[in-house]
Amino acid sequence: MKICVMPGDGIGPEIMEQGVKVLNVIGEKFGHKFETTEALIGGAAIDATGVPLPDETVKACKESDAVLLGAVGGPKWDTIDPAIRPEKGLLGIRKELSLFANLRPAALFPQLKDACFLRPDIVEKGIDIMVVRELTGGIYFGEPRGTKVENGERMGYNTMVYYEHEVKRIAKVAFEAAQKRNKKLCSVDKANVLDVSRVWREIVIEVSKDYPDVELTHMYVDNAAMQLVRDPSQFDVIVTGNLFGDILSDEASVITGSIGMLPSASLGASNPGLYEPIHGSAPDIAGENKANPLATILSIAMMLRYSFNMAEEADCIESAVEKTLSEGLRTGDIMDVGGKLVGCTEMGEAVIKNL
Ligand code: NAD
Ligand code: IPM
Ligand code: MN
Repeated sequence: MKICVMPGDGIGPEIMEQGVKVLNVIGEKFGHKFETTEALIGGAAIDATGVPLPDETVKACKESDAVLLGAVGGPKWDTIDPAIRPEKGLLGIRKELSLFANLRPAALFPQLKDACFLRPDIVEKGIDIMVVRELTGGIYFGEPRGTKVENGERMGYNTMVYYEHEVKRIAKVAFEAAQKRNKKLCSVDKANVLDVSRVWREIVIEVSKDYPDVELTHMYVDNAAMQLVRDPSQFDVIVTGNLFGDILSDEASVITGSIGMLPSASLGASNPGLYEPIHGSAPDIAGENKANPLATILSIAMMLRYSFNMAEEADCIESAVEKTLSEGLRTGDIMDVGGKLVGCTEMGEAVIKNL
């Protein structure tokens, strides 16, 4: 199995180092040969080649069976030409690999229930949500877009577009995910205001006819943001567009303890899938051995499950993470509730010990 590893920027290299160690131990333990190659993306690629997504990186990803990504971006590149920002590298590779479905599971590990900011009686009801975020369309990619001067003043504009085929395929992914879970799907939109959302809703309803066993509901995004913290137990699978999914998944992460815990899988119609934590490059703690590597390690478990059909290996990683949390080890982001403060390396090594 060929895996293209892109550490990226900020805490990216630190968390990826732990992730790759975990992957190698899994390889030894279960007798698999994971062949990893590194590729440049984001700011690291800009510094080395002048662009955030070099052709060699795209080629390396396409020749791999799966792709792992740390994070991209940081203050160093915040003032460069927006056309070559680090984030363009990430958006570019998602588009190049047609990774339209971004699965972001937000589940609370029982060991972290005290790290959750919600009232204990709400936490008690359980938090286990799958956010299915559309990843290659919507306002992130819609045209026209740009900035200009009009009537003597500056203006910027983007366009939120969804084509029928884009909504259909993400809706199918979400219904299928719901079928394997608690058979509830909530489609989140802004159909009371946006035309694009009205089409989104219409199409989701049409697709629902093929999934009579799944209970479909609709919610406006502002209400969804509120309901996520009021009573997250009401959600099973959430399907939504690119921008709403970006925002709601960060919100969902914090009710599970920390953004440093949430993994993701970005999938297209065929391999390679791309696996990455949902968080960014955390420039405020980069290079200090403070980052939580668990979101990356759990992303590797998702890779094993979704790209390589290795359920047992994925379970092994997830159990090792649980065991490590049970032992009370905590990185700073989940530290506020007690436990033993450890760095990124120590957390990675503890997971390896528990594999
Ligand atoms: P961020 O997710 O990088 O950080 C937000 C906060 O969460 C920070 O306080 C950070 O220290 C903390 N945090 C994030 N991940 C953590 C981890 N693993 N362990 C401990 N703490 C963690 O978001 P931001 O500050 O808005 O963005 C920083 C940069 O990252 C920007 O350039 C942004 O564009 C980029 N970004 C990249 C990705 C990605 O590569 N997928 C995702 C989000 C943001
Ligand atoms: C994420 C990030 C990216 C996004 C950025 C860095 C392009 O926030 O992966 O959640 O908005 O999709
Ligand atoms: Mn995001």
